[in-house]
Amino acid sequence: MADNKWGKRIIYQIYPRSFKDSNGDGIGDLNGIADKLDYLKDLGVDAIWLSPVYRSPMRDFGYDISDYYDIDPIFGSLSDFDNLIKKTHSRDMKVLMDFVPNHTSSEHPWFIESSSSKNNPKRDWYIWKSPKKEGIVPNNWLSQFGGPAWELDKKTGEYYLHTFDVSQPDLNWRNPQVVEEILNVMRYWIKRGVDGFRVDVAYYLFKDPFFRDEPHNPVFAEHHTHYDSLLHIYTIALPETLNMLKKLNAIVNEFDDKFMICEIYTFLHEIINLYRIVDHQSFAPFNFSFISLPWNATVQKEFIDEFDELVGHNYFPTYVLGNHDQPRVATKLGEGSARTAALLQLTLRGIPFIYYGEELGMKNVEIPEEEAKDPMAVNMKGFNLGRDPERTPMQWDGSRFGGFSNTEPWLPLEKEFQERNVASEVKDKKSFLNLYKSVINLRKTRKSLAGGRLIPLDFKNPNVLGFLRQEADEETFILANFSEEEQEVELPEGKWKTILSTKMDVENRKENSLLRLRPAEGIILCN
Ligand code: NOJ
Ligand code: CA
Repeated sequence: MADNKWGKRIIYQIYPRSFKDSNGDGIGDLNGIADKLDYLKDLGVDAIWLSPVYRSPMRDFGYDISDYYDIDPIFGSLSDFDNLIKKTHSRDMKVLMDFVPNHTSSEHPWFIESSSSKNNPKRDWYIWKSPKKEGIVPNNWLSQFGGPAWELDKKTGEYYLHTFDVSQPDLNWRNPQVVEEILNVMRYWIKRGVDGFRVDVAYYLFKDPFFRDEPHNPVFAEHHTHYDSLLHIYTIALPETLNMLKKLNAIVNEFDDKFMICEIYTFLHEIINLYRIVDHQSFAPFNFSFISLPWNATVQKEFIDEFDELVGHNYFPTYVLGNHDQPRVATKLGEGSARTAALLQLTLRGIPFIYYGEELGMKNVEIPEEEAKDPMAVNMKGFNLGRDPERTPMQWDGSRFGGFSNTEPWLPLEKEFQERNVASEVKDKKSFLNLYKSVINLRKTRKSLAGGRLIPLDFKNPNVLGFLRQEADEETFILANFSEEEQEVELPEGKWKTILSTKMDVENRKENSLLRLRPAEGIILCN
């Protein structure tokens, strides 16, 4: 097996606004993150991924960049950033930056120039089209944040394309100057010390050059958002986009031990296709199967077995339970199953991405629609699409503002933060946090978990998922009960002992051939 260093690293996503506020404005910042690096090191994290910290008017909380070469003052300065990189590296951890190549902010100087006149040299840096007819949008393309993807610029009489908010105009990737500039942005940050990127909406870069209307989605249902009423065959996953990802990866490969992970919500075979196209160990597409597929042992097993095999031994799968766009896993599955999901994520072959607070069992916080901050919630009322609930402040301790800040945070804390926080979970042997630490510790000390093969097992029980990890003569055996009832399984031949349960109450228990799993329990065994 190839020695893929990134394939063995545990990556932790930080939403910087919500991790730790160091200067008392209620918003997390870079110095706050720097203060918490020892916590992350102790947890066993190998790399952090920062959601965007570039200069931005924050209409989409940093996914609307107005200067790719600077840090937003709300988060700190370039020297704070340098300091954070230095401190992270000194603890032998890596730093990935979020990277947003599909669009900029409408306040980016490039867009201000581009919209100033039809013959401005930067006009073609964005996607402009004249109306189809007076007052009619150029085609039927839709914005993911509601309404048409086109906005009329009254001054020049043309529409610009925005796949997301109107304040996020799409760059024109067919313009070689744009490509060159964006590739230089990547080089700039790597030279400044970052270890790679998480590429935002990596599937979207190129749009149909003929601007054809997208066909209607035959399985569209009323409760879906307007965006889902079309099949996005002319705006997503164009062959040009896939080739461009290869080119972005080539930039990463100009340097040693760097990595890029691409945000792509798609099906198994397309994910595999991407591994094949880019064909480099410094690259991986996200796999969101734990989020998109039902919590069902049979369905998940089928995916995992096929995925692991198709990715193959030179590459590594990735597993994600949540991120800043998805409801928190503990809310979706309940605490018992969320623990088991974490156990699977951390014992499967491949790269686990932990979303901050997941290791505490943090839950979604209900935010009334009128208090919503997220543009998705503000633009599309009534669909319950807001992402604020999963972006609330990290719960460090039981003090007034959860140890996050000394003032009212930008989003409210979870009501239960006094029980669910780092300080109290450190003390509780059975806590979520101690489960994470224990599993990560096993992952780091057992070679079969770090890099071993995955051997699927079949238990003829539709509620149980089990597999072996194997490296040389060492085997680790994982079992997960997806149901809320007790389940029995017959163990494979051999002398097995349970070394860990998600309930955190079993250590080195010798097992008979028939084993009972408690409701929603996951366990790790060895022989
Ligand atoms: C995906 C990001 O994860 C999301 O938070 C953002 O709103 C959109 N891309 C637009 O950049
Ligand atoms: Ca702050």
